[in-house]
Amino acid sequence: MEKEKLVINGGKPLTGEIEVSGMKNSAVAIIFGTILTEDKCVIENLPNISDVTHSLAILQSIGAKVKRINKTTYEIDTRKIKPGASPYDLVRKMRASYYILGAELGRFGKAHAAYPGGCDFGTRPIDQHIKGFEALGAKIDVESAYIDADATANGGLVGANIYMDCVTVGATINIMLAACKANGTTVIDNAAREPHVVDLANFLNASGANITGAGTDVIKIKGVQKLHGVNYAVIPDMIEAGTFMVAAAATGGDLLITNLIPKHVESISAKLIEMGVNVEEFDDSIRISRSGPLNKISVKTLPYPGFPTDMNPQMCVLMCLADGVSMLSEGVWDNRFRYVEELILMGADIKVDGKLAVIQGPTEFSAAPVKAVDLRAGAAMIIAGLVASGKTEIENIHHIQRGYEDIVGKLSGAGADIKLVTVIDNTDAMPIAN
Ligand code: EPU
Repeated sequence: MEKEKLVINGGKPLTGEIEVSGMKNSAVAIIFGTILTEDKCVIENLPNISDVTHSLAILQSIGAKVKRINKTTYEIDTRKIKPGASPYDLVRKMRASYYILGAELGRFGKAHAAYPGGCDFGTRPIDQHIKGFEALGAKIDVESAYIDADATANGGLVGANIYMDCVTVGATINIMLAACKANGTTVIDNAAREPHVVDLANFLNASGANITGAGTDVIKIKGVQKLHGVNYAVIPDMIEAGTFMVAAAATGGDLLITNLIPKHVESISAKLIEMGVNVEEFDDSIRISRSGPLNKISVKTLPYPGFPTDMNPQMCVLMCLADGVSMLSEGVWDNRFRYVEELILMGADIKVDGKLAVIQGPTEFSAAPVKAVDLRAGAAMIIAGLVASGKTEIENIHHIQRGYEDIVGKLSGAGADIKLVTVIDNTDAMPIAN
């Protein structure tokens, strides 16, 4: 069997320019959002990553026509979609596939989908999604592998006031999708404020929805009869941008990161400045440079506008390089530190106690064979590999390909020595010794 891995010869500072692609977590929400329009939509600035390809494939499997117009633009025609079983294997590949539930429920009053997959950060409950759908009048059946939602027996969805017990991006988005065409007004209180929630609301409003308050913790959705097709461009990916910001700082580089919204990465810029990194902000780009040592810091990940949990592993690598003891506290997921074992293989001195990592720096990273245990963990391994002396090999890179467009091309263009290599893996075929 063939498998791919990344090979990095570390020690080269990142210089020049890197352009940020469209945001994964917006793109997937908007792709499923097109189901509500019953029309043709043209979506621009879609990143070329496997989560986008899988989302488009799920839509095709239920009857959408998808046409690629150029590298980042697709026409999606959802007129002939029928609600029903999307392929189990595709849905299991990614978390955001559960947006099919909110979107089908919003359009047809009923939905049926496999339980979603995605990165493993411990338990990933969907109780708040279910609570929201039920409040709108849907009956929910959760079998082991499938979820059924049906409001047709009650005459369709009816707007409701829904208080989220915790701040959740996924449930906020799913309820927004379901409520767009419900009868009456829905209010989501304690809603997530992430830029991708706002991006989806902007897309839906451009298609004829009536959503106000996205970006605050109270979102109001007045149900409308019909949505229509629209041309819409996805916002830049703040986590991809943040990853390059940290990579530039870690390698002691001087890098201009273009096509981003500086406001979206403010929490990351603030921490880099605290560590002694130079951060120069422009309208839609940021220049990151560092020549001196890094200061130890404390970081706690939180929902937006707090420091993003999806930057936890990358930031950990930078904190390893700082002088003294830094503290990294995870405020969103139960089990985000699975990558730490891999960083320890590269020389890091990190102790994890539940949701807190105590990082003793400065680490002289040295190359080792490591694994991407999830998407952002994979990004952290790349950053550690760019810093380490010697040749780092990273396996399980399908995780990285879910969320980073052409990471090899982008980093090579900025001076990194990174290659994607295909190797023959015979371990499965080997006889087991007695
Ligand atoms: N939660 C519940 N009940 C629910 C839903 C969530 O208790 O019904 C809890 C979760 O257990 C977690 C917290 O709420 O502790 C936040 O979960 P959230 O629903 O916000 O996460 P998500 O929507 O599943 C999205 C991103 C993740 C990112 C999180 C947090 C997408 C497709 N995924 O996940 O992105 O980590 O928000 O910001 O938007 C990534 O891009 O690498 C990634 C994993």
